[in-house]
Amino acid sequence: MKNDLNHQLGPIGIFDSGYGGLTVLSEIRALLPQYDYLYLGDNARAPYGNRSFEVVYQFTWQAVRWFFERGCQLVILACNTASAKALRSIQQINLPEAYPDRRVLGIIRPTAEIAAEMTKTGHLGVLGTEGTIQSESYDIELKKLHPQLIITGEACPMWVPLIENREYDKPGADYFVKQHIFNLLNKDPEIDTIILGCTHYPLLLDKIKQFLPKSAEIIAQGKYVAESLKNYLSRHPEIAMKCTLGGTVKYFTTESPEKFSQQASLFLQETVYAEKAIID
Ligand code: DGL
Repeated sequence: MKNDLNHQLGPIGIFDSGYGGLTVLSEIRALLPQYDYLYLGDNARAPYGNRSFEVVYQFTWQAVRWFFERGCQLVILACNTASAKALRSIQQINLPEAYPDRRVLGIIRPTAEIAAEMTKTGHLGVLGTEGTIQSESYDIELKKLHPQLIITGEACPMWVPLIENREYDKPGADYFVKQHIFNLLNKDPEIDTIILGCTHYPLLLDKIKQFLPKSAEIIAQGKYVAESLKNYLSRHPEIAMKCTLGGTVKYFTTESPEKFSQQASLFLQETVYAEKAIID
């Protein structure tokens, strides 16, 4: 059944399982300040990283419908796990069936494009959640661009909980950061470019840098996702004209709005007032 809300205008939706997508939102707002944004963190069900394909897909599609019900015509999955596990089904099955005029974009392809350009040795490392690494989405996208690239993944299951629990800048986090960087470089010492394949990880950037050689390129994807969105909107004026231009941002969470406001204000270094979202 075609949805009758397709004629609406609305803000751009930015989705993540929790706080990580804020690292993408802040880069998008810096580059495209003229648009309105709705941010949704599914904090009540985060982390997504070790959940099954079916569950991540179900949660992500519920979130996308939540954005659509609020008029969003374009939603960015600012979450690698959701991009890896849900994007394809949403784009190929759900949208054509129910919302043919709306768009949902992921963040793996634009990140892979920049990483393929940056590497000199042709050896890349990907740090991500278990779900993202197991999906091999980065390997697939990078090899579509250059089949000869050598890609090594390392799942870092403790990193998202460290960030969601505001432990990312504490000394205890060093152990978990060092362990995974060491594992990655041990698997392939020729790696010269490392993709932070989880939108939470830029919050650990200072610690990650401490354990990597100075020559290593570290890709925090927010900036590249923002550039790719700008490019997308200029190539698709029919979508851009459905995105409202008020320069506002509203934050929603499925957990406690007070807790989200407090944490997000720290991450973004500005005052955030979140509202409660109920998604089902
Ligand atoms: N920010 C999400 C990502 O980019 C974190 C996933 C999680 O909730 O574990 O993958």
